[in-house]
Order: sequence, then structure tokens, then C-alpha cells
Amino acid sequence: MQETTNQRNIPLILAPLAGVTDAAFRSVCFEHGADFAVTEMVSAQGLLHCKKDNSAMVSLLKKYDMENGRLAIQIFGREPLYMAEAAARLSETEGYCAIDINMGCPAPKVTSGGNGSALMKKPLLCADIFRSVVAATLLPVTAKIRLGWDDTSKNALEICRIAREEGVSAVTIHGRTRTQMYSGRADWAAIGRIKAAVKLPIIANGDVFEPEDAVEIQKTTGADGVMIARGALGNPFLFEQIKSLIGSGSYEIPDISKRIGVCLTHYERNIEENGSDIAIKEMRKHVAWYLSGFYGSAQLKHSVNQMQDYETVRSALLAYEKQLRDIGKTLPTPRTRQSISERAAE
Ligand SMILES: Cc1cc2nc3c(=O)[nH]c(=O)nc-3n(C[C@H](O)[C@H](O)[C@H](O)COP(=O)(O)O)c2cc1C
Repeated sequence: MQETTNQRNIPLILAPLAGVTDAAFRSVCFEHGADFAVTEMVSAQGLLHCKKDNSAMVSLLKKYDMENGRLAIQIFGREPLYMAEAAARLSETEGYCAIDINMGCPAPKVTSGGNGSALMKKPLLCADIFRSVVAATLLPVTAKIRLGWDDTSKNALEICRIAREEGVSAVTIHGRTRTQMYSGRADWAAIGRIKAAVKLPIIANGDVFEPEDAVEIQKTTGADGVMIARGALGNPFLFEQIKSLIGSGSYEIPDISKRIGVCLTHYERNIEENGSDIAIKEMRKHVAWYLSGFYGSAQLKHSVNQMQDYETVRSALLAYEKQLRDIGKTLPTPRTRQSISERAAE
């Protein structure tokens, strides 16, 4: 296990992941060491059009106690007025610790409307949005950006300077451009150069898959926090492993019993949150992620995808756990960076 020295205990943040980071998943990440979390992105305009008792709104706001003061809500949009109104409405809801503005989403369905990372092409509009949202809420306002739109327009430093001038409290930088999407490696050195050049708390994001990566990204960037997305899929343990590595120089690899135990807790909370019909579908990808790297898990993942009720899934997982214990294969094969980064696409 690697030795680490002089590492600061910096905040570890569960990233926004559309379709993944609902309250059930966030709760298991909090229980395993995440300090903060951000909801998946929500359309500012959509929020304004939905009544407070609308089920989409209710499910967004449904939180576990442990989230109080540790959950930021992320909004996206390109109209300063709507963004400000959405921020004002969200501020009335007790419990959020910040309003995060999405300026990094690369998905064509988002950028084609001028939202997400497309905003980085319009620094003046970014300034307007920052100013309007900051004026509309007493909560801290943060933003999540990429290095820029493409290689020829890496303007993350400019956006960070604007953010600081307009009263934004912190910026998360994903160390890729929009045109890179999720390919190549995140450029941690570039995040470090921005951190050194701007007096604003910076959260580093991109390619933290193993505990050692978190130590390295912090060392390279000097960032004030580390945000983790794909590395936490099926692996909420990553947060506590990072803390353990920083605190004591080593960490545990969770065995099949621990993984299945947490997977079942996660599953039950998803049922509580969404009802069984939705949970059974939503949890299929999570079950596959929890089992990733374990001996013979491909067949089980396939069967779980056909199962129609929680009790059947639970029995199958517990039988698999026993089988692995009987043959002494309770630990996963080491994960490769590629296998993890491909998870979100599975
Ligand atoms: C499936 C998926 C959904 C995502 N949803 C969001 C989102 O709603 N808001 C956002 O700002 N970023 C979103 N992201 C980007 C992540 O938050 C993060 O910036 C990116 O995955 C890089 O971090 P990682 O290398 O730790 O995965 C998403 C990424 C993936 C793979």
C-alpha cells in the first residue's frame, strides 16, 4: 500500500451524475465518507414550470437526514432570469448547502440549446448568469465547468476570474474540453495552473478512480476539494478508502459480503424512494457496477436484468455471495482504468 505524507484532508464531493446520483445512492456515499454531494442537473425552466407538489420536484427534494447542509442542487439553463428565479425558489427549500450552475455538460441535447458547456463560449452570458443567480439567493453559488469548448478555446481561467468577480463561491473544473467528451485523460496540470492563477476555491474533477488518484490530483492541482463521478459507481467505498489512505497510509478493499450488503441497502432505499417498479429497472445498472470484477459475475448480472422483483434479486445475490465464499474468491480482480471509465456507457 502506498505511503502518503503531508496530505491535507480536503473535502470529497460526489459529483452530479444524471440518472445515477439520486437520494438513495447519495445516502450510501455519505455513509462511506463523501463530505458533500451535488444533485444531478435540473432544468431551471423545468423547475419553474412544476408545482411544488409535482412528483418530480418532490423526489428531487426528498433527502435523507444525513444530507442536511451537505447537498448542493445543480441547475442548468441559459436565461439569467430563469436561472435566478429557479435559484430563488430553491433557496426556500431548507437543506441545500449551495446552488451549482452547470456549465460543463457536453451532451448535444443540452449544448444545442446553448446550455451546459456551450455557455463557456459566451463569457459575457456566464457573467450575467452568475450575477443574476448570486443576487437571487443567500446560498453560496458554485459552478461546474470544463477546460473550455475545444483545444483552441480553453478559457476556464477567464470563466473562473469572471465567477470570482461576480461573487461565485467556488468552481469545479473537469479537466477536459467539451469536444473531448470523456475521452483521453483529464488534464490535472491544467487545473493546477488555473488554481494558481485565481483567488477562488477550486474543486478538481476528472479520472479519480482509485484512492491514489485522489492523492495525486490534489498534489498536482493544489485544489480545495476533489469531486468524484464514475469512480464511485458501484463503489461508494472509494471515499472512505481515500480518507484512510490519507490518514493512515493504507486502505481496505471491500470484499463481496460488504459490497452485496451495501448494494442491498442501496436497493431498499431506491424502492423506498421510487417504488418497486421503478427501482427494479433503475437498480440493474447499479447491481452490475457493484459486482464488477468479481469471479463469474457476468452471468449473474445477466440474470438480474431479467428479474422482476427485489426478493428474487436479493436471494440471487446472497446465493452468489455464499458461492464466492465457498470457493475463496471474495475479492474482485484489480480494476483497470478503462473498465471503470467505460462503466457509465454500459
Ligand atoms: C452518466 C453521467 C452523467 C453525468 N451527469 C452530470 C450532470 O448532471 N451534471 C454535471 O455537471 N456533470 C455530469 N456528469 C459529469 C460528471 O459529473 C464528471 O464531471 C465527469 O464524469 C468527470 O468526472 P469522473 O472522471 O470522476 O467521472 C455526468 C457524467 C456521466 C458519466
